[in-house]
Amino acid sequence: MNVVSCTRGEMELFAGTANSELAAEVADQLGRSLGRLSLSRFPDGEVNIRIDSSVRGKDVFVIQPTSPPVNENLAELLIMVDALHRASAGRITVVVPYYGYARQDKKAAGREPITARMVADLLTVVGADRIMTIDLHSPQIQGFFSIPVDHLSSVELLARHVQAWQMENAVVVSPDAGRVGMATEYANRLGLPVVIVHKRRIGPEHTEAQHVIGEVCGKRPIIIDDMISTGGTVARTVEALVEAGAVQEIGAAATHAVLVGSAVENLAHPAISRIVVTNTIAIPPDKRLEKMEVASVAPLIASAIERVHRDKSVSELLARAA
Ligand code: R5P
Repeated sequence: MNVVSCTRGEMELFAGTANSELAAEVADQLGRSLGRLSLSRFPDGEVNIRIDSSVRGKDVFVIQPTSPPVNENLAELLIMVDALHRASAGRITVVVPYYGYARQDKKAAGREPITARMVADLLTVVGADRIMTIDLHSPQIQGFFSIPVDHLSSVELLARHVQAWQMENAVVVSPDAGRVGMATEYANRLGLPVVIVHKRRIGPEHTEAQHVIGEVCGKRPIIIDDMISTGGTVARTVEALVEAGAVQEIGAAATHAVLVGSAVENLAHPAISRIVVTNTIAIPPDKRLEKMEVASVAPLIASAIERVHRDKSVSELLARAA
């Protein structure tokens, strides 16, 4: 007979430096403090980490988005997990609220890498036992892991903010073909139709919105996306919608506020009246526009951590509308 152990080590939370505010909020929600670790750098920039107290046998959760500076934050995360693994943690769940390097999830041309897979391999090799993340750029990235992945959704949270805007005559807009599934989730929750914009990427920083598929004349669009990076996609989508006759009171909802390059200028577009993003990535004050709301994913993450720790189902946090 197989004997299944029902005991799990005590929960311990750790965080790197990428989003300390979110980590502190999650810890607060769970009524716990973050574990202490000493993080320093050698003169050449290499990261050194020492976990300050024993984690032997413990159920450890490490919170760190791999947001910009992506390579720094990724290295810090890998080194933290390695330290925890070598310190004999009982189980290590890596909580990556924003999974960077996800956009390179296939070879779009010859001789290119698949970084989404490479990061999955790195996390697993250093000792991650499971992964928790929110709104992956493409859900199939889960398949790059052979360890369990809890893929949480922020759509419910963001849709509640959008609902509160009470936009009349609204439509949900997917800014490209890849976001139609997510747009449908919003649309189902908000009871609105979906419009699709055909986007063409003409370089890492430049996109072109070519066709609007669906009726937007006289409508108030709500553009949804998994991330706003340079804001180029949102800005080009806004231009295409305005040209197609949309009312110039446009909303935008996105999970990850990467906000690099010309993001602030692009989002300042006068036709965008409201924006909501989450705090998966720390947003510095100079990037917080007046029209921007920030919805906290801390309760969602805390609830998922609690369930994983207690071996309870997380399905209802993963549930996506059909
Ligand atoms: C692309 O497929 C993504 O879903 C986002 O639309 C894109 O990464 C946003 O980038 P940016 O804000 O730089 O246009």
